[in-house]
Amino acid sequence: MHPLELTSEPLRRALELAARFASEEIDSLDSQPSADVLGAEDLARTFVEELPTAPRSLEAILERLRPAIRKSFNTAGPGYLAFIPGGGIPSAAIADLIATSTNRYVGVRPPAPALAQIEETAIAWLARIMGYPATAGGILTSGGSLSTLSAIVAARETKLPDDFSKGTIYMSEETHYCVAKAARIAGFRDWQVRRVGLDERRRIDPKALAHAIEMDRMKGLKPFLIIANVGTTNTGAIDDLPRLVSIGRSHSMWIHADAAYGGFFRLADEGPALMPQIEECDSITLDPHKGMFLPYGNGCLLVKNPETLKRAHSMDAEYLHDVRPQESFNFSDLSPELSRDFRGLRLWFPLVLHGVDAFKDAIEEKLMLTRWAHERLRSDSRFEILDEPQLSVIAFRLKGDGPAADLMNEELMRRVNARGRVFLSSTKLDGRYVIRLCVLSFRTHMDRVRDAVTSLRAEADAFMAAEPE
Ligand SMILES: Cc1ncc(COP(=O)(O)O)c(C=O)c1O
Repeated sequence: MHPLELTSEPLRRALELAARFASEEIDSLDSQPSADVLGAEDLARTFVEELPTAPRSLEAILERLRPAIRKSFNTAGPGYLAFIPGGGIPSAAIADLIATSTNRYVGVRPPAPALAQIEETAIAWLARIMGYPATAGGILTSGGSLSTLSAIVAARETKLPDDFSKGTIYMSEETHYCVAKAARIAGFRDWQVRRVGLDERRRIDPKALAHAIEMDRMKGLKPFLIIANVGTTNTGAIDDLPRLVSIGRSHSMWIHADAAYGGFFRLADEGPALMPQIEECDSITLDPHKGMFLPYGNGCLLVKNPETLKRAHSMDAEYLHDVRPQESFNFSDLSPELSRDFRGLRLWFPLVLHGVDAFKDAIEEKLMLTRWAHERLRSDSRFEILDEPQLSVIAFRLKGDGPAADLMNEELMRRVNARGRVFLSSTKLDGRYVIRLCVLSFRTHMDRVRDAVTSLRAEADAFMAAEPE
């Protein structure tokens, strides 16, 4: 048998070895440091190598991979509170094994209608979670950036089909940079992207937004798209959706919600109240690799009217004429991709296996943990909290202004991270260095969040005398 045709006993043995390797890695996540990149570049250089001609043993390859995995930020571990975590649920990896080893084609529907339906059903479930009607649809992407690109192209083709040279897009100063990047890729010049100021909770200022739109219309420009933040990366701020929807509707604009981070908080009992009227938006970016804890590479774009996505992305090819479905969409009609992985299984399988309530419980726990940590940091007079957390990000710093205070905060975070139990990241808000603590991994529980607070307090002692609480 040719070595590429791995079957029967050798296949089972290889799968067992890989499964053992994966479960050892998962079982040890808790005891691995929250980040370990000391010497990681030296290790990386050992992977600069010639194309192998002879086979190597699977055992040897796995043992070589282990340190490469370990010398990294432990993004799957419970202590990862940096950027936007997610974790990566193992059941999605099991789904991937099945999807990639059976390798069916879902880019167009007729070659595997039931598998394409599994993916469509999973998208419909996400639409339902967000409060969209049954007529809504969407596409699974590799992440929020690609979802946003398709949303901008759909908005452009719907609102300015013939000429978008005067089209303008509105977003807040806190909107994720992937939106401006997507606008550029979609053919807009940087001046066509308007950055609107913030209110005191770092949400877009609706009055300033309405004013900017009016002014641009008076100049003969064509405002056509508003980006609403549903959980900013920096602080988790949620824009005033009802106001944005009302402004957008009065100018016949497309409203896109960037809910890449915040969207899945709608699963919580309090979720719909956190993001009222998100279901009124024309499109929604969601990242299952954040709030649904899937491994990286899982994004979703939902659209209220799937025809808009189709108009923006579909094109005929003669050689595909016998795989045009009658009643449904081909995924290739809804996105820039043709051939793609069967990513629907990665979403459908965990939802069927665990049930949606498991995800709801986990997301509610994240809100509870964030509020707990916020209370502890708020009651410590050495810390300044930038705002009450709207979702699961706490943005804070040791009190003080100027470069010295910034350096002190930088050092505080470095020391906390060096303890190896939790890993925090930072940002700049109004030019000031700010530490962020984001609770979103399904593996993060009270012990780690307590660790984070204890470490912050203990390291803060090194800088200033503790004041009585
Ligand atoms: C609010 C927000 N939007 C969009 C993105 C981009 O998503 P992705 O990294 O999946 O492309 C991110 C990433 O963190 C984000 O936090």
